[in-house]
Amino acid sequence: MENLKNSIGSSSAPAPLGRVGVGLAKRIDTVEEYYFSSKLREVRQLLAEGKPIINMGIGSPDRAPSKNVIEAIQKAVTDENAHQYQSYQGLPELRNGIADFYKNNYQVELNFNSEILPLMGSKEGIMHISLAFLNEGDEVLIPNPGYPTYTSVTKLVGATPVFYDLIESNNWEPDFEKLEQLDLSKVKIMWVGYPHMPTGATGSLKLFEKTVAFANKHKILVINDNPYSFVLNENPISILQVAGAKEVALELNSLSKTYNMAGWRVGMVSGKSEFIDAILKVKSNMDSGMFYGIQKGAIEALKLDKSWFDSQNLIYEKRRNLTFQLAKKLGCTYDENSVGLFVWAKLSSEIKSAENFVDKILYEKDIFITPGTIFGSNGEGYIRFSLCVNEEKIQEAILRL
Ligand SMILES: Cc1ncc(COP(=O)(O)O)c(C=O)c1O
Repeated sequence: MENLKNSIGSSSAPAPLGRVGVGLAKRIDTVEEYYFSSKLREVRQLLAEGKPIINMGIGSPDRAPSKNVIEAIQKAVTDENAHQYQSYQGLPELRNGIADFYKNNYQVELNFNSEILPLMGSKEGIMHISLAFLNEGDEVLIPNPGYPTYTSVTKLVGATPVFYDLIESNNWEPDFEKLEQLDLSKVKIMWVGYPHMPTGATGSLKLFEKTVAFANKHKILVINDNPYSFVLNENPISILQVAGAKEVALELNSLSKTYNMAGWRVGMVSGKSEFIDAILKVKSNMDSGMFYGIQKGAIEALKLDKSWFDSQNLIYEKRRNLTFQLAKKLGCTYDENSVGLFVWAKLSSEIKSAENFVDKILYEKDIFITPGTIFGSNGEGYIRFSLCVNEEKIQEAILRL
């Protein structure tokens, strides 16, 4: 910061590269560049130097969406209305598709007009929800380990993260007795996400019932972040299945992982209309409707039935079995029953730093794995393998060790 301040008003040479010449907002100091944003730059640099890096870091599906989805966007591009601004709430047909998706897959009834808001990915929903519900000084319960964006967004809006422990011996579920002992008077939001990223814990309806009861008792808005429901998971569930959940709960969902559409940026938030209206108030002031063709593709994706999930899971299952072998070769243990797009593996106890371990594997074996610590302090001693890598590459990684 010092450099930036000094550079303001300096009349002679232009500010050296890396200086913007104006003061940054204080909130910038509350966060760091997203881990993958900087680490993948490093990985790309290694690739550019000719290193044969196998990237098992990020959960970005490498396979294509269904043929119907691709055809739908191709066809939509020549539609007369394709190029205009779109509705902030998305096409009614898309919201209807989301309502059907919830009814068919989770047996949850949602009003397509008032209880669903399409998003450009669920990640942006974390910001919109936080802006809609948090004031400076409010507190937010955040899982440790958990998706790092809950923490960074909380800090960016001036609220305070309060981390709650998830530990292996408790199936990576919140310990509500421990939570009850906290001063919860300032807590406004609680983030949960099952199936859980990064651990792959499934959660259960019983867990969601306890979560909703806790939220009700303490007047907390609980959000279940649910992008992994259908990946290697036999029993997809939604927090909105719990009786009375709509009074205190919202759910984020996404087409990124389930339908191989991460780069398309399609997600959704669902819940009672008063909550959705508040989020729409924020969103409609920040962006405009999603590109028409993407909505048309998303509508097709949402129509896919169980055979789509089964076909993808067949691929992921083979990859997961190979990744288990890889983890074993690295001296790790893992839970064979975990679900989702990752293998969460525990390092042997002699290894004291997951980040040092990951760097060693990156520089010595040209394999990039994510250290558990980027998901919080309880991720120390763990590493995360993405399943978005084909079988040949995983096999090659096994041979390199
Ligand atoms: C737990 C969790 N929530 C949300 C997201 C964001 O997904 P989307 O592509 O829908 O923004 C991710 C992506 O990795 C995730 O792991």
